[in-house]
Amino acid sequence: MYMRKEEVGRYDVDHHPKAGTFYGDVLAGLSKDQKSLPAKYFYDAAGDALFQQIMRCPEYYLTRCEEEIFKLKTRELLRYLFKDGEAFDLIELGAGDASKTQYLLAELLAQEFPFTYRPIDISGHIIEQLEERLKAEFPKIAISSFQGDYFQGLADIQRTGNNPKVVLFLGANIGNMSRDEAKLFCMNMRTFLDAGDRALIGFDLMKNPRIVQAAYDDSAGLTRQFNMNLLHRMNHELGADFMEDLFEHYCQYDPLQGACNSYLVSILDHTVHFPNKDIAFASGEVIHMEVSQKYRFEDTQALAEEAGFRPVHAVYDRRGWFVDVIWEAF
Ligand SMILES: C[S@@+](CC[C@H](N)C(=O)[O-])C[C@H]1O[C@@H](n2cnc3c(N)ncnc32)[C@H](O)[C@@H]1O
Repeated sequence: MYMRKEEVGRYDVDHHPKAGTFYGDVLAGLSKDQKSLPAKYFYDAAGDALFQQIMRCPEYYLTRCEEEIFKLKTRELLRYLFKDGEAFDLIELGAGDASKTQYLLAELLAQEFPFTYRPIDISGHIIEQLEERLKAEFPKIAISSFQGDYFQGLADIQRTGNNPKVVLFLGANIGNMSRDEAKLFCMNMRTFLDAGDRALIGFDLMKNPRIVQAAYDDSAGLTRQFNMNLLHRMNHELGADFMEDLFEHYCQYDPLQGACNSYLVSILDHTVHFPNKDIAFASGEVIHMEVSQKYRFEDTQALAEEAGFRPVHAVYDRRGWFVDVIWEAF
């Protein structure tokens, strides 16, 4: 069922889709033997709203753990992250709604640290909301946001100034990469930093498998909707014809690897049509949607060293479920 030429024109597609574009990346992912979709495309306006609901749902402990750290241990974070007096850029990768960072911002402003807050997020919608809200909440804040990919944002900051940098990467965002990808990510991040710059990264730690599993399979079905939303996004933005009823959400935590993988499972043999490409699904075939990798603390230290950082400090929530590590580039 190919679309007519004038219908194809309604969508942001082309016949030779490029890597790095929404269409190029999803077609590449769905054309592999093991189909997959890049997690960064979860976040359109509906995805942002669903993720905010997930963060508040009872099973999703991660946000509450890290919020506890930022709220109750703000001064400890400040002590290890910032040097007195020196102007710096506070860069946040995948800032989202900065609901935890705001505690740090409030304390930095109260203590009159000279900094510019530079949130980077791929979602234009969330970054606009964030800038508006922070300016209203903290009239004195210097803020300069960037909409785009993490490394596009870091390259832009590098082009426009050379202040010392402190990089935040919260919410166990690093867990949405495999261990190898996380290593490459940290090595790449290091290339944008000078010796002495610091990074704070939130890692979700290995724990009782049932607790982890429930966080990604919540009883209200929010994670299911969050995954399905990417199918709707492909329908709206790329003219595909995914039918939600033909897919089920499935997720599984492997406590040996520390990886919680989520999938959409096709329940029938069927074909999904994009304007100029058909994708066949067999009954029972899965699309790998996302990994949520859990770590042991020792793994985070090894990762720091492999990527050119020296671990400086670690701050845990009271149950020891989550850790924010502070590293210094050397
Ligand atoms: C799991 S949320 C975490 C939000 C926030 N850091 C927190 O801890 O609550 C991930 C955020 O990263 C953004 N994001 C995901 N992949 C990205 C990428 N490759 N480049 C920039 N932002 C990205 C998403 O839009 C989303 O706002």
